[in-house]
Amino acid sequence: MSANTFENVKAVILSAHKSTTPREKVSFYNSWADNYDQDVAVLDYRAPGLAANIISSHFTGDREAAVVLDVACGTGLVAKQMRRHGFGHFVGIDGSEAMLNLARESGSYQDLKQCMLGEDPLPAQCNSFDVVVIVGALSVGQVPVGVVRELCKSAKPGGYVCMTTRSNHDNVEYKADLERELKQMKEEGLWSCVEVTDVEDWERAVSEQEDGYISGAVYLYKKLQ
Ligand SMILES: C[S@@+](CC[C@H](N)C(=O)[O-])C[C@H]1O[C@@H](n2cnc3c(N)ncnc32)[C@H](O)[C@@H]1O
Repeated sequence: MSANTFENVKAVILSAHKSTTPREKVSFYNSWADNYDQDVAVLDYRAPGLAANIISSHFTGDREAAVVLDVACGTGLVAKQMRRHGFGHFVGIDGSEAMLNLARESGSYQDLKQCMLGEDPLPAQCNSFDVVVIVGALSVGQVPVGVVRELCKSAKPGGYVCMTTRSNHDNVEYKADLERELKQMKEEGLWSCVEVTDVEDWERAVSEQEDGYISGAVYLYKKLQ
């Protein structure tokens, strides 16, 4: 699967829409892994950098010592961006072995674990991580909304949970479900909302119904003590 023009990348992404279940989607990522970094650069995929900037603007602790859980880590683009802000310890989780192999090669992660999110329990200790981050994976057909409760459980009291989602047409229902769950967890006293940032130029649109850029959102929550 070689794809470095926008039209080729678009065809690759549209082929992924045939994958309707999370398992089919992870199998698609296994086949896409080798071209993933170069293809998302063509899409102007900015989510890892946007999430890292927002975490960095609020995190006041010792970044070198902080331990970050990068859920759906893929090839390691989030750790790469967070390292630029001084974070040094990462544990990665993903469903795709091929993506995990590339994350391992990046050298950014102390530990990497394979897990089908939403089916397997999150392989992470409760109350352990200074920052939990999930970028590019909370969307329709990928990671089910209920997983955000497990992300919150794995954060230390006072730790941050950073999440992203897309705001375009095929993800409208998922995004509404996600926001309902985030609000419900806030009402249950599990966390407080630190920042929600809506981003117009999230990444280049690939569907026939859209052109230009699609929008997206970054959510930052702080687990309560
Ligand atoms: C768009 S990539 C994002 C990767 C990385 N966070 C980034 O921003 O570049 C989505 C990742 O989520 C993983 N993924 C999607 N659904 C999953 C699931 N249900 N369980 C585990 N991993 C999943 C895929 O294997 C893929 O690596």
